[in-house]
Amino acid sequence: MPDYPPVTVKGKTAVVIGGTSGIGEAIALSFAEDGADVVATSRTPAAVEATAERIESYGARTIEQPCDLTDRESIEVLCNAVLSEFGRVDVLVNSGAAAARTPFLELEEDDWGHVIDVLLTGVFRSCQIFAREMTDGSIVNLSSMSADLARARLMPYCAAKSGVNALTRCAARELAPDVRVNAIAPGFVMTPLTEEEYGEGTELRAGIDERALAGRVADREEIVGSALYLASDAASYTTGEVLFVDGGFTRNAL
Ligand SMILES: NC(=O)c1ccc[n+]([C@@H]2O[C@H](COP(=O)([O-])OP(=O)(O)OC[C@H]3O[C@@H](n4cnc5c(N)ncnc54)[C@H](OP(=O)(O)O)[C@@H]3O)[C@@H](O)[C@H]2O)c1
Repeated sequence: MPDYPPVTVKGKTAVVIGGTSGIGEAIALSFAEDGADVVATSRTPAAVEATAERIESYGARTIEQPCDLTDRESIEVLCNAVLSEFGRVDVLVNSGAAAARTPFLELEEDDWGHVIDVLLTGVFRSCQIFAREMTDGSIVNLSSMSADLARARLMPYCAAKSGVNALTRCAARELAPDVRVNAIAPGFVMTPLTEEEYGEGTELRAGIDERALAGRVADREEIVGSALYLASDAASYTTGEVLFVDGGFTRNAL
């Protein structure tokens, strides 16, 4: 063993909400491969079952417990199920997704409300419910570089992600030193959420490739390392931080 805290989640118990697709699934599978017990969950039972099978294929323990970030009771049921199976929870990753791509002046209150409910209030609910049970833990919230940008037709998404950054900092303060709370702010990552918007050949894709210093969009696996780091003891002195993984998109200026 090295004499510095290692970048590993081996031996930890991790819960990944929104862990059955895209970035969350990549994180959940990497944690399992690295030696953690992992519960990957979302609203869809079939997706939860399929991801659980992949987690078990790495020799990790898991349970199948769907949950909806808009439903406090379902998160409490999830938390209790994890505690009764594993006796503790060390890591929580919030990677649930929602978006309404509508111009501001046409945006309905319901669309605004749904995005805020999943992306911001949902993160509030899960952080609160799981943090009450954590003694020496790490919470990693999926924010976005969009928290700091004026994205076209994405006002509720940008507002929710700004809120996630604020929630992350405030939770880090109140939960210290027992629970560290950090966020990852990805740039443009290819996942089922984004395929239509900036898949190969789209107008947006050309703009991303030009502006991102990396010259391309990211694979979801390129977000995994930041989650592994923040969840691990290697980040024992890192809390209240928002880590940008955006290929330099927000650093590029004329
Ligand atoms: N992809 C990008 O370019 C990008 C960039 C910056 C930030 N992010 C953020 O990264 C996170 C993951 O995005 P992604 O691209 O990986 O999306 P994704 O592939 O669509 O995956 C989203 C996951 O969230 C689950 N989910 C949706 N609504 C939920 C709810 N109410 N309760 C619980 N789970 C729910 C989905 O499963 P069910 O449908 O079964 O519930 C799915 O497992 C999001 O917070 C997103 O805003 C993504």
